[in-house]
Amino acid sequence: MTRSFEKVGVVGLGTMGAGIAEVFARAGLGVTGVEADPAALERGRGHLEGSTGRALAKGRLTEAERAEILGRVTFTTSLEDLADADLVIEAIPEVMDFKRALFTDLDRICKPSAVLATNTSSLSVTEIAATTARPGQVVGMHFFNPAPVMKLVEVIHTVTTEDGLAEEVAALARRLGKTPVSVGDRAGFVVNRLLLTYLNHAAVLLENGLAARDDIDAAMKLGVGLPMGPFTLLDLIGLDTSYEVLCVLFQESRDRRHAPAPILRELVTAGLLGRKTGGGFHREEEPGGPPPTAKPSVGSVAVLGEGAEELAAKLADAGFKTASAEAADVVVALSRNPVIELAAGLPRPERLVGLHLVGDRIAEVASTALTSSEAARAVEGLVRIVGRTPVRCKDRAEFVVDALLYPYLNDAVRMYDSGYAAIEDIDSAMKLGCGYPSGPFEMLDELGLETVRDGLRALYAEYREPSFAPAPLLDQLVTAGVRSIRDLP
Ligand code: 3HC
Repeated sequence: MTRSFEKVGVVGLGTMGAGIAEVFARAGLGVTGVEADPAALERGRGHLEGSTGRALAKGRLTEAERAEILGRVTFTTSLEDLADADLVIEAIPEVMDFKRALFTDLDRICKPSAVLATNTSSLSVTEIAATTARPGQVVGMHFFNPAPVMKLVEVIHTVTTEDGLAEEVAALARRLGKTPVSVGDRAGFVVNRLLLTYLNHAAVLLENGLAARDDIDAAMKLGVGLPMGPFTLLDLIGLDTSYEVLCVLFQESRDRRHAPAPILRELVTAGLLGRKTGGGFHREEEPGGPPPTAKPSVGSVAVLGEGAEELAAKLADAGFKTASAEAADVVVALSRNPVIELAAGLPRPERLVGLHLVGDRIAEVASTALTSSEAARAVEGLVRIVGRTPVRCKDRAEFVVDALLYPYLNDAVRMYDSGYAAIEDIDSAMKLGCGYPSGPFEMLDELGLETVRDGLRALYAEYREPSFAPAPLLDQLVTAGVRSIRDLP
């Protein structure tokens, strides 16, 4: 029997729940939105009115369409109103005890044929299903923030899910205009396992003082083309949610990269949860970034390393005097690797600054322990003169972009190698769930497997973090001379 999903219930109308309710209503389904109390219900209604109001203001919806969408949603504080729903999805806080209590109630209230779904970010769907007398009809349906915009829905089945149900829920996701990726029940599923590990890594690097918040954000946005830097995204997701997801990941993996960075705990405890509280890593009242500095006053510049001629020519065109390393006031060492060894060999090592050009929009400006602040500032200015955004950082293996990107790519290879998800599914999940310009396997092909493998080796040598060691599959592919993981038989 194929189910028909016409009436749905959404329990919890916070950012995600309200977004999910909007998605169902836009697709023509009748929605009953449930919140715990009248005040929360009004906030939920406000989310829906605000979101559809913005679409109206942008001309994406007409007044009549908006009224029709809102007219399909009924608001209530009583779970009993879900008795005749065909599917109920919950988007309440990520606390297992809350979810278990809710599913026990839903199991009692909802008609026997109803499917119960959870939008949990990482908790065990199997455990949630086990609290009901219908574990075969419980699935995960994981949406991404902002739900009306992001195209991905992860459909999670458990060992007890009825045959065929995951496909029916995937078909429902397609009817909503989404792309489903079906996976088994593992902490963090595909996206959060890869994404939160990377976001947490960014927070750890921030705590370690590798680079400042805005530098790291700019590095990943402009250097990799991600829609948001890691701290802007953490603020969007919510630091409480991010913290909870990481705790669940850590509990399962015992991998210390999943242990939430202490700064997350601190901000959450301070009530700075991100956008929803008006402040997290970024605060609303903060003034904009510093204005670009004027042309730096530098006597003469020496440029060393691969690509030195091109950069020196650009600087000369901009009116700077170029000279040899011995004669110059500032020495720029173009390098993918730390430059301290080079600096230590110079008579005045405080003049040397490492520079790594990433893509065509940013340049990582690496200061060694010996670099003077004047030299670093001068090179930041030079970077702006040649039309790039400087990303200030310490002189560490792989600087910022590659230090964050390569472990993420390595994790994707491990995920594929574990048999959890297919290459195409992982690629589409990251593109459609997070708006990445390309999936991790596409990025690997573009960067070259050997480059990434070597970068991971350098990271491992620097930080001695076991999971930075190249995934055995990656190592083997490079050794075998295979150019793309897709070429595997
Ligand atoms: N609700 C509804 N629509 C929204 C919205 C919201 N909260 N925020 C943005 N939009 C719409 C805008 O109205 C606009 O629509 P239009 O194209 O029809 O005019 C469109 O999205 C683009 O928005 P903007 O022009 O304002 O801004 P951007 O182009 O910068 O896009 C973004 C904003 C879509 C959020 C983009 O920055 C992005 O894709 N960021 C990455 C988000 C991400 O990674 N999400 C996943 C997080 S992980 C998660 O949710 C899982 C959980 O379990 C933790």
